[in-house]
Amino acid sequence: MNIFECHNYEDLSKKAADIIAETVRQKPDAVLGLATGGTPEGVYRELVRLHKTEGLSFKNITTINLDEYAGISSEDPNSYHHYMNTHLFQHIDSEKNRHFLPDGKAEDVEAECERYDRLIDSLGGADIQLLGIGQNGHIGFNEPGTSFKSRTHSVELNEQTRQANARYFPSIDDVPKKAITMGIETILSSKRIVLIASGKSKAAAVKTLLDGKISEECPASALHLHPHVSVLIDKEAASLRH
Ligand code: F6R
Repeated sequence: MNIFECHNYEDLSKKAADIIAETVRQKPDAVLGLATGGTPEGVYRELVRLHKTEGLSFKNITTINLDEYAGISSEDPNSYHHYMNTHLFQHIDSEKNRHFLPDGKAEDVEAECERYDRLIDSLGGADIQLLGIGQNGHIGFNEPGTSFKSRTHSVELNEQTRQANARYFPSIDDVPKKAITMGIETILSSKRIVLIASGKSKAAAVKTLLDGKISEECPASALHLHPHVSVLIDKEAASLRH
């Protein structure tokens, strides 16, 4: 695991975007595993800038997202599909029919999870997977206690995660209670992983990830089992390590 302590959020976002851009330059038909949430917004801004001002083309990429809320459609402004359109897809030249997310509206959720895993397998896994981290160490929506052997599955969101995500919804009651997420094993099937963490609220999770033991109580600690992981943190996220 390579750890990069960045000066600030902007620096972290640029470094993560550069790693993704390099992957696309080397392999124009790369499969990019993407994340949503507050932390990756700067990475997407920088990728859009690289596309608009430096000619970086995403024409032949495929994207697979980590997760999606259950019970809301892809057009819902709170869906992760909508987030991806707003922050990235509508600003670059990638092909709409190669943007994949779990279908939150699927009637047969189990079949949808299997379909998503088969899709990821058929693509050969992500060439690079971008991850954020929850305050409780979750990755994707894999909450503490999730098996490291998990594949794409449906989850009940815990209260801390719903509270953390409530900022995007009119009220906490509007935050979905369920989601579909890639499992830990699915995430580990990526060829390369980049985890980004910014701000004081992530400092405890970052310390457990980097200095604690490998345990299903900290889902992100599974990343120690992967051979090619970069962890990019800013000074605040690193503050409990020193
Ligand atoms: C998002 C995801 C989550 C977030 C995590 C951190 O697709 O899978 O694991 O990465 O909750 O979210 P932010 O960046 O909003 O703090």
